[in-house]
Amino acid sequence: MLETEATLEVKNLIADLRPSEGNLLAALHRLQEHYGYIPSDAIPVVAQQMKLGTARVYGMISFYSEFRLTPPPETTVSWCSGPACCLRGGDSIRRIFEAVLGIKLGESTEDNRVGLHLGQCNGTCDLAPMVRINGRARGPLSAAEAVRLARELSSRASPPSARKNGGSPS
Ligand code: FES
Repeated sequence: MLETEATLEVKNLIADLRPSEGNLLAALHRLQEHYGYIPSDAIPVVAQQMKLGTARVYGMISFYSEFRLTPPPETTVSWCSGPACCLRGGDSIRRIFEAVLGIKLGESTEDNRVGLHLGQCNGTCDLAPMVRINGRARGPLSAAEAVRLARELSSRASPPSARKNGGSPS
């Protein structure tokens, strides 16, 4: 394998992990923490270091939904799918974000500025229905507030063709 600055960096990040299937998960977590995703160029390096096939590495990445193969969007809208949010109109809030941003749940805008992702209840149900924007809770949202918020985010993103986060398993 050709040594480049990038492959050397990946090697250094996981150098202390002994080659084993058991350390594969730790290696992937390190890369994701460092880069915000797992660059595809890093996969053969990880496979070599762990003495595993690249298919095994891809298999592990696709098994765990927290791993992604594409850079995260600048702004992540995490739509809460929990019961309190759903009971208080969370589905309408999701549809508003989808319509205004021109993307579906699980997708990011073409320019990767805004992504709309499935979130879980984190116990802040007094804010239902709510979304988290880069981790910050916004709610309770009326339909009008959701439209305003989504438009504000949309103005930061390029117009409405969307792409899926192909490598981001759900
Ligand atoms: S159900 Fe949405 S925050 Fe609890």
